[in-house]
Amino acid sequence: MRIVLLGAPGSGKGTQAKKLMADYGYPQVSTGDLLRDAVARGTEHGLRAKAAMDAGQLVSDEIVLGILKERIAQPDAARGFILDGFPRNISQARSLEQVLDELGQPLDAAVLMDLDFSILMKRLTGRRTCKNCGRVYNIYFLPPPADGRCESCGSDELVQRSDDREETIGRRLEVYRQETAPLIEHYREEGKLKVVDAEGDFAAVYARLVKTLGL
Ligand code: AP5
Repeated sequence: MRIVLLGAPGSGKGTQAKKLMADYGYPQVSTGDLLRDAVARGTEHGLRAKAAMDAGQLVSDEIVLGILKERIAQPDAARGFILDGFPRNISQARSLEQVLDELGQPLDAAVLMDLDFSILMKRLTGRRTCKNCGRVYNIYFLPPPADGRCESCGSDELVQRSDDREETIGRRLEVYRQETAPLIEHYREEGKLKVVDAEGDFAAVYARLVKTLGL
């Protein structure tokens, strides 16, 4: 299975991709996570990406494509993958098609996680991530344990992403509208678009996603 998860910031792409990975073994390939990792490690790509990410803008196609190609060439991606946050514009979608053509592994579907913009702000401002293991919580919808420690690894460092401040979220949503939303039409024309209603609790959304994918 090779799929793209499309959707606005906060629509639940990462949350659902992690659950699909746990249940079916296809790796979640999140360009956002790969970039944050490069920033944390202070690599050349990371240093170049940081300013754009903090401003809520897209990182250059050249950097993102480089890290994407490296990731999907790894052995665990040979039988499929879940792309989370890539492609983000038409040019990235065309590059992806080219890379997958060369590998002889076409995309099966692009799944739009469809959510009203009014719900996104609370999901994003409430998100907290474990600095140690990456587990994602939400102070409104999926709160961490009362002692403030991560349920998976026990770390007490549950942090807010630097781009989850209100002013940056507004910019990210605007970038989504202008650059990423046109991909919905692109994949519809290709006959690959599937739409999942991403409103409601985690399990209900997951059940709809699994059904849509025919898993
Ligand atoms: P990225 O990390 O990809 O962020 P994003 O697309 O903005 O998406 P998010 O991670 O914010 O949201 P999500 O849909 O994964 O939601 P989540 O499941 O976490 O990108 C960050 C930046 O990196 C970009 O701005 C850009 O600068 C750069 N970048 C990345 N890819 C790039 C590319 N291809 N090209 C160029 N630049 C790129 O859920 C959000 C919250 O809601 C969580 O707290 C969660 O617990 C909660 N939640 C989830 N589902 C539910 C539910 N059903 N009910 C209640 N709460 C829920």
